[in-house]
Amino acid sequence: MSDLNGRVIVLGVSGGIAAYKSVELLRALQKKGADVFVVMTENALKFVGELTFQAISKHSVYTDVMKEDTPDKIRHIDLAEKADGVVIAPATANIIGKIANGIADDALSTMIMAVKAPVMICPAMNSWMYESRAVQRNLDTLSEDGFHIIDPDEGYLACNVTGPGRLPEPYYIADRVEAMLVRKDFKEKKVLVTAGPTVEPIDPVRFISNHSSGKMGYKIAEAFEKRGAKVTLVSGPVAIDPPYNTEVVNIKTADEMLLKCQERMENIDIIVKVAAVADYKIKNRAEHKIKKSEGGLDLVLEENPDIIKTLGKLKKPGQIFVGFAAETRDLEQNALKKLESKNLDMIVANEISGKNSAFGAEENKVTIFTKNMAPKILDMMDKKVLADLILDSILEIENDR
Ligand SMILES: Cc1cc2nc3c(=O)[nH]c(=O)nc-3n(C[C@H](O)[C@H](O)[C@H](O)COP(=O)(O)O)c2cc1C
Repeated sequence: MSDLNGRVIVLGVSGGIAAYKSVELLRALQKKGADVFVVMTENALKFVGELTFQAISKHSVYTDVMKEDTPDKIRHIDLAEKADGVVIAPATANIIGKIANGIADDALSTMIMAVKAPVMICPAMNSWMYESRAVQRNLDTLSEDGFHIIDPDEGYLACNVTGPGRLPEPYYIADRVEAMLVRKDFKEKKVLVTAGPTVEPIDPVRFISNHSSGKMGYKIAEAFEKRGAKVTLVSGPVAIDPPYNTEVVNIKTADEMLLKCQERMENIDIIVKVAAVADYKIKNRAEHKIKKSEGGLDLVLEENPDIIKTLGKLKKPGQIFVGFAAETRDLEQNALKKLESKNLDMIVANEISGKNSAFGAEENKVTIFTKNMAPKILDMMDKKVLADLILDSILEIENDR
């Protein structure tokens, strides 16, 4: 479930060419469960009709500060008060300038003046306008005043210029609006997450690996980022887009993963090791492609470094280490053994046999074991929801110290 579920979002639309994308943004916010009210500048009405926003939002659109339909309410104050969050997309050079300088002379700028909830500004304009000193100065002012600014994308613009100024995709903006409203209970925390499988080469074209999709680790990295942490994600090869605002370090083998984690250990507050690291690598790895021959082929395997254990030995007071254990049997017994032997604070154990297999799935069923608290046996649930529950348990450990 999205953090926007049941929240009121006010969508401000100003008069830029990208105003047509705001309709899609309205839909994206609604898909996340938000109740969206739209405020448009008079110039925005020249780009997209009010009726489109009204029909989709199921609310009348606020466009004229001097037109009050309901005498018992002052519309700009009423909208400002009910908003859990506001997003202005596209934000023209003009509306950015007005808000940065305290001007309130239309429905949108007047409403913004009264808003207490977080506001996101999505500038979209011609590159030369965007790079102008006035726009950059106004964006700096807005940032200092606590507004959330989403940088525009670079690309070919409607004005035949290539450069920064394009409104990012509506689904990206909706995700960022969601992140803006999430509680920031991991603010300033430095977090390292490992995810995905490792890949151990047999020769230059073949490898051994496992079925890990990386989904669980990526959801955990995303949850930390949304909740304010600075996240590094050390990831094996996966088919998932990198999370926003996250340092992604791509690796292939267990040796590489260990090295990249060791390099970053010093300044990390929390480590969550979700990666399915191969226990073994090929000892007699071939330099050239192995030719097919009669009589089969013997591969000699040697043990990979135990990443969790190696890092566990370097653990400093105050750091929190979380491991994952995928077991096909004796879940509790194996998980508790790992908790102890690998110097972990928490272990998230899942049974990967039969219908409960989490590999590649959107859902996962786990039990959370810690040193001092009773095990938490959780139901099968969406990995995104589970990621937040795992983070809640990490906070409990921290608060328990
Ligand atoms: C075809 C056309 C496209 C425009 N596109 C943009 C744009 O993408 N971004 C921008 O800041 N201004 C753009 N403008 C200029 C704004 O419409 C103009 O500055 C206007 O005063 C903005 O009013 P508002 O901020 O009250 O909506 C465009 C104007 C025209 C005629």
